[in-house]
Amino acid sequence: MAARNDPESVRHSRRGELTRDELEEDFLQRSDKSVWVAEIEGQVAGYVAFETGADGIEIGIALHPAHRGRGLGRAVLLAGTRHAIEVLEADEVLAEIFPANARSVALFVGAGYERVDDRGVPHRYRKVAKR
Ligand SMILES: CC(C)(COP(=O)(O)OP(=O)(O)OC[C@H]1O[C@@H](n2cnc3c(N)ncnc32)[C@H](O)[C@@H]1OP(=O)(O)O)[C@@H](O)C(=O)NCCC(=O)NCCS
Repeated sequence: MAARNDPESVRHSRRGELTRDELEEDFLQRSDKSVWVAEIEGQVAGYVAFETGADGIEIGIALHPAHRGRGLGRAVLLAGTRHAIEVLEADEVLAEIFPANARSVALFVGAGYERVDDRGVPHRYRKVAKR
């Protein structure tokens, strides 16, 4: 909850703040979505969500505020992207990022994602699998 619902995460999300029930439904009951939880010393440090859509797999990340700015985002994005391509067999990994979220844009571009279009916000980014 703390990773998903802190002001920075909410500001940069499509759906705003989620209730516990909404979060549980989103994470646990959807057949098109799976979630990794990152734990550090027994505490939830963040999550990576994988959502299967028509165009590929969309990846989303949120870290607990105490674990931001230390390179964990980069580590989980690289591992998550590799998982989406090699295990989930995605041809493309996608992400939707609000342009004001400069840290997230830097993170995804640094991991090899490129902007797909300019159809409005949030902007769409993708990484194409090299097989
Ligand atoms: C976005 C998020 C996952 C990034 O993870 P992180 O571990 O905090 O990432 P870092 O602070 O190490 O920064 C990642 C990159 O952004 C750069 N960066 C940091 N703050 C920045 C800023 N204000 N403006 C531009 N770039 C910035 C860093 O230098 C780093 O680039 P590098 O790898 O080339 O050095 C994390 O901050 C988070 O959970 N934010 C809230 C939820 C969210 O916005 N999720 C993404 C939705 S698409």
